[in-house]
Amino acid sequence: PCPIPVIAIDGPSASGKGTVAQRVATTLGYHYLDSGAIYRIAALAALKQGIDWQDEMALAEMATHLDIRFAAGEIYLNGDIITEAVRTEDISRGASEVAVHPALRAALLDLQKSFRKAPGLVADGRDMATVVFPDAGTKIFLTASAEIRAERRYKQLMEKGIHANLADILQDLQARDARDSQRSVAPLQKSENARLLETSHLSIDQAVNAILDYSRANTGKQVL
Ligand code: CDP
Ligand code: CDP
Repeated sequence: PCPIPVIAIDGPSASGKGTVAQRVATTLGYHYLDSGAIYRIAALAALKQGIDWQDEMALAEMATHLDIRFAAGEIYLNGDIITEAVRTEDISRGASEVAVHPALRAALLDLQKSFRKAPGLVADGRDMATVVFPDAGTKIFLTASAEIRAERRYKQLMEKGIHANLADILQDLQARDARDSQRSVAPLQKSENARLLETSHLSIDQAVNAILDYSRANTGKQVL
């Protein structure tokens, strides 16, 4: 039997992964996995339970009984809506701190794989193509310059009415990029067979269309 198709989209912070991946999923009628949200939830849950972000074994143990639900655009943890609570700068940093621990990453693997359901999945994160779905039929590495990514994040915050400082955002983003790229397990890196998509000068629509075109051409050539 044919494996359920996966479009894996990896890349650094604010490269547009979430926005673009959700649109690709909607267009194709596929499911969507925001793997970054899972690391954010782990950081928030640890904070709530008084578990230190450095305590690898306690984090891994906690991860085996997380009660997480994604429904209608909201994220639930133990029945509470935490959609906004996981988007703060503090939790962004916490997510990338807990994400360095191999035992935690291993404990979150099956949960991520369980999103692969018919007719297909679009998954975004840092290690979708390299670790979680290495057999994905379509692999994309989405990127943009750090300056442009910082501006995107800045605009996103302003639109939400959150006051922010562009220089601080750039600094946080570069610190997170460095931690994500330099960790020993599942570092942020382009999978050898992933298609590089530099979006500094692409609109969201252009990026979405490039992925849909590539995926179509690519699956056509695939021998299953
Ligand atoms: O998920 P990730 O952190 O990679 O990025 P995102 O939250 O999807 O995108 C960050 C912001 O950049 C959003 O406000 C998008 O609308 C915007 N964006 C853009 O302006 N141009 C693109 N080509 C892609 C995203
Ligand atoms: O939206 P943004 O790209 O800023 O962050 P995110 O995708 O929500 O991911 C938050 C953090 O979780 C990242 O900085 C990574 O450290 C971690 N992460 C990871 O290690 N592996 C993934 N597959 C996804 C996220």
